[in-house]
Amino acid sequence: MCGIVGYTGGRDAYPIVIKGLKRLEYRGYDSTGVALAGPSLRVYKKKGKVASLEESIVRKELGGSTGIGHTRWATHGEPSDRNAHPHLSASGQLAMIHNGIIENYSQLKQELLSKGYQFKSDTDTEVLLNFIEEIKHNNACSLEEAIRIALKRVTGAYVILLIDQDMPDTIIAARKGSPLVIGVGQGEHFLGSDASPMLEYTKEVVYVNDYELAIVKPQELVLKNLGNERLTPYVQKLDIELAAIEKGGYEHFMLKEIFEQPKTIFDCLRGRLHAEDGTITLSGIEQHSEALQKANRIVMIACGTSWHAGLTAEYIFEECCRLNVEVEYASEFRYRNPVIHPGDIVLAISQSGETADTLVAIENAKSKGAIILGVVNVVGSSIARMSHAGAYTHAGPEIGVASTKAFTAQLAVLTMIAFKIAQLRNSISPERLSLLLHELESIPAKVEKILSNIEPIQQIAKQYAQARDFLYLGRGYNFPIALEGALKLKEISYIHAEGYPAAEMKHGPIALVDDQLPVVVVATKDSYHEKVLSNMQEIRARKGRVIGIVTEEDQAAIELCEAYLAVPAADEMLAPLLNVIPLQLLAYYIGIEKGCDVDKPRNLAKSVTVE
Ligand code: AGP
Ligand code: GLU
Repeated sequence: MCGIVGYTGGRDAYPIVIKGLKRLEYRGYDSTGVALAGPSLRVYKKKGKVASLEESIVRKELGGSTGIGHTRWATHGEPSDRNAHPHLSASGQLAMIHNGIIENYSQLKQELLSKGYQFKSDTDTEVLLNFIEEIKHNNACSLEEAIRIALKRVTGAYVILLIDQDMPDTIIAARKGSPLVIGVGQGEHFLGSDASPMLEYTKEVVYVNDYELAIVKPQELVLKNLGNERLTPYVQKLDIELAAIEKGGYEHFMLKEIFEQPKTIFDCLRGRLHAEDGTITLSGIEQHSEALQKANRIVMIACGTSWHAGLTAEYIFEECCRLNVEVEYASEFRYRNPVIHPGDIVLAISQSGETADTLVAIENAKSKGAIILGVVNVVGSSIARMSHAGAYTHAGPEIGVASTKAFTAQLAVLTMIAFKIAQLRNSISPERLSLLLHELESIPAKVEKILSNIEPIQQIAKQYAQARDFLYLGRGYNFPIALEGALKLKEISYIHAEGYPAAEMKHGPIALVDDQLPVVVVATKDSYHEKVLSNMQEIRARKGRVIGIVTEEDQAAIELCEAYLAVPAADEMLAPLLNVIPLQLLAYYIGIEKGCDVDKPRNLAKSVTVE
């Protein structure tokens, strides 16, 4: 939910920290700030984006070989200069940045206020920082020990990075529930919410786990648990290239990532889909073949776009595996008392692998004996490490806040998992499966074809960009795609848009239809086609403005549209992988028409690590 960066080593810290913040800005951008140590502790911070901070401090003293930086997504206290991180402790001796929420901050604040503490901000972060300082003074202990004592009293989620004026070459970090990666260099260390700030310097990384504390110096990384026991850092090698986190000539990351989809879907299938011999190889899933054969239900848990991927997959699992499938919003599931039995299969779907609600929901399911299978994009992320097994989506870093390539990659992986389970359970004929595997193999080329003709989408975006509301309709496999199309438009252009089952219109929402309302109907040729054409007639009869996503040369559908976007024909089970592409582009180009920041939409952040 925010971006955290740290550096200590032989180089000037500021250039590394500020560049790292730019790479992480997609994670949250209400305000930003840096703290630099050595010889004096300096904090520069302000409301707004990284470029604005950078411009405002260009003449300041920016030396020092240790620094921390933060881009904020506000939870406690409005976006403002005073609430920006880093925060300074009451003594001015300590500087801290924080990602997460300290849930018992008001109780801690009352304790500190009764001891005469005053606060310069409204944040929970400043409370934790002064709580640490209070312990350090009272117990006359080290900063490290004070942090350990304090964190045992804290409830909530955090990654914190602290610098002490008296230890200008040291960063102390700790995490619970929010992500932290430490890059290991030659005589230098890098810290980040994910690997992107360190990728150009090192590919050797340590993923810090919950309840761990790191004391980071240029030449030394000490890892401990809150019981002060020394741990051995497990150094992994990243397989991401720097180019993957650069724009590569595209105006926005979102557009780049939309256009990457032929390749990312292909990468997802590679080594797993063997259409010729009718097999699927998913080693992470095959480890649990027996449980998958015996399971009588599958629960999918996710948020946002990932939940839409699960909802689409529900139709595929039901059709192929003849299994009960439930798709749960993680944020709802985790607060209920869900019925989970030992051996139940839970699919955790997440691009970032750090979504707090999803993480806690699967922790709950795991504690009840469920088998957790992760469908995650970020390798080594918390959800991936929490899962018993799974299958990575291999879409590469997704920087745009609106999820696009990760969604189609999730769909591709979920589809292969469904085919794998269907094979294990003999619930699909070899002939039908062979057809589907060959169809799946053809999807990257069909996506490429859609992307080769975007001019009609740009035209439609210009034509409808000023509409106040949109409706998105679909049936069956395309109902979740209608939801996803509506979410893309909302989060990128700030236009209100609602996805709905096409057949449900007559139960109320059709009252909304008039000649001002664009209605996007996913109307590709499938077993629901005739019914969807009738729904389009109903909209037109009330002067609604139908924008159709139609199968190429489907004249019956085309003549019912005020405007349309054509996609290649595909089996209805796999058509969502194609039908979502024009909807992603429609949202993007409408957002551009409206002058929105399509990579960093207002109020949003890429990874929702707060609850
Ligand atoms: C997608 O466009 C949104 N930005 C958001 O709904 C996202 O899908 C959701 O926060 C889940 O994130 P995750 O996949 O990283 O868990
Ligand atoms: N809860 C802290 C705040 O509101 C941190 C938010 C974040 O993760 O950016 O400042």
